Amino acid sequence: MRIGILTGGGDAPGLNAAIRGAARRAFQLGHHVSGVKNGWAGAMQGDIEEMAPEEFRGILHLGGTILGTSRTNPLKQVDGMQKVMATLQHYGVDGLVAIGGDDTLSVAARMAEAGALVVGVPKTIDNDLSGTDFCIGFDTAVGIVAEALDRLHTTATAHHRVMVVEVMGRDTGWVAMMGGLAGGADMILIPEFETSISEVVAHLYKRRGAGRDFSILVVAEGVNIEGMAEVGQATTDAFGHVRLADRGVGDALSRQIEKETGFETRVTVLGHLQRGGSPSSVDRIWATRCGVAAAELVNERKAGMIPVRRGDEVAVVPLAEVVKEQRRVPRELYDLAHVFS
Ligand code: F6P
Repeated sequence: MRIGILTGGGDAPGLNAAIRGAARRAFQLGHHVSGVKNGWAGAMQGDIEEMAPEEFRGILHLGGTILGTSRTNPLKQVDGMQKVMATLQHYGVDGLVAIGGDDTLSVAARMAEAGALVVGVPKTIDNDLSGTDFCIGFDTAVGIVAEALDRLHTTATAHHRVMVVEVMGRDTGWVAMMGGLAGGADMILIPEFETSISEVVAHLYKRRGAGRDFSILVVAEGVNIEGMAEVGQATTDAFGHVRLADRGVGDALSRQIEKETGFETRVTVLGHLQRGGSPSSVDRIWATRCGVAAAELVNERKAGMIPVRRGDEVAVVPLAEVVKEQRRVPRELYDLAHVFS
């Protein structure tokens, strides 16, 4: 069999570990491996190459993806999916491992419904896929946020300032929640739970009143804060996603805090730092386990399935289950942060 591998959507640390796991297992099972370049774009344009085992050596620790990626959406193009399936057939690709988040896996689920031998691997730093305790890149992103907060604590205490830290996460607050908890944030603002500017101001005064003359606030890029004066307009991508970074919620919040309290306030937007660099051990291990399991699913011709993490086990569920709804931060985690604020 010839097994194709693609990575789609936003990149994430750990993608190469998953690619390596899937490819090495495919070779071990006696199959050929083709790399589909730049996500679904390569599958539409025929940017598909036979790859040799040595091309998957020495990549476990590398960030990014050796296959490239894109936010191409074949479902948004006339006959897009037919084009993908015809191109894969033309290049002799019998089965496909699609490594991606909700967008990429939604396309994979549709292709499997149409009869293609496609399986998935869960990837997104946003950690918003359902049915899995693990998404490639999330653990590394949380570590990057925690390290940033460690650094910002020293300058915030030195200058007695309020620091606003804007983090990624699209419409959910996982990166902010877990990064904020790991980094000892004094307040965490996420889309899942409403907050108002007056609550933020009251909290800062309470801290100041208790002699805490600095504060670290972590704000998820997708949050809406009631009473917030001005947030920028956002554009959209091929999947219709709003480019939340354009809104500048962190910047707007820090200016409004300074205006309303007079406390010196600075903003840090971590941006794509959260997606770059070498993956954590957790991301390397689980990306590898899911990659290997995905190659086995193709080998067993189990179309439309995806390996996921359930506790310490790799379980296998239908792709449709993983993309059916967004996994959101539960109340008990949000309440936990209030123990420390
Ligand atoms: O989905 C991953 C993610 O990093 C989101 O957290 C963020 O909103 C978005 O992608 C940024 O997308 P881009 O890299 O296209 O600017």
